[in-house]
Amino acid sequence: MNTLVFATNNLHKLEEIRHILCGKIRIRSLDDIRCREDIPETADTLEGNALMKAHYIKDHFGFDCFADDTGLEVEALNQAPGVYSARYAGNTYDPEANMRKLLQEMQGIKNRKARFRTVIALILDSSEYLFEGIINGTIIEEEKGTGGFGYDPLFVPDGYTQTFAELGNELKNTISHRALAGEKLAAFISNHSHKQ
Ligand code: IMP
Repeated sequence: MNTLVFATNNLHKLEEIRHILCGKIRIRSLDDIRCREDIPETADTLEGNALMKAHYIKDHFGFDCFADDTGLEVEALNQAPGVYSARYAGNTYDPEANMRKLLQEMQGIKNRKARFRTVIALILDSSEYLFEGIINGTIIEEEKGTGGFGYDPLFVPDGYTQTFAELGNELKNTISHRALAGEKLAAFISNHSHKQ
């Protein structure tokens, strides 16, 4: 089985990706490679940030690796908070404050359509590849559920009546933006290693 470093300091993402790629790709964490640094993510697109994080690990540690960047894109807010989702309410990166701000911005707005978009950047044998995963849904008017992380208590995926935080990780990890991008990554890696 191929081994790749996943360039994230977010333990929720690490756990989700390990679950999604279980049996397909062996994942090494930043902790496993003794990377304790704050990896810069200062681009203004998800693609740019994902590439920046993956290149950082390749350049400083020499490992083939991948990184994800995710944004919540709300239709009525012109796709905001998007690439700024983590610090929507300021540099404290506080998910509760982010959700409060989102609810405030959407007060009185009827169109509640939103989507999560994940971009995974892979650096393999000195080439770079991008994989995208999107899940559409709606933003409800108050937080519901305790599972997941980030904006999960406000997001109801299309075809369901509960939020990601209520549906639980088991289900989230089969339908989410990150699962869709992760499956594309796994298919690519499997195909790539058969060609070697
Ligand atoms: P980043 O990809 O780490 O920059 O994440 C951007 C922001 O989106 C952070 O505030 C995360 O909490 C949030 N986020 C990322 N992935 C998810 C998810 O799967 N569910 C809910 N929020 C997420």
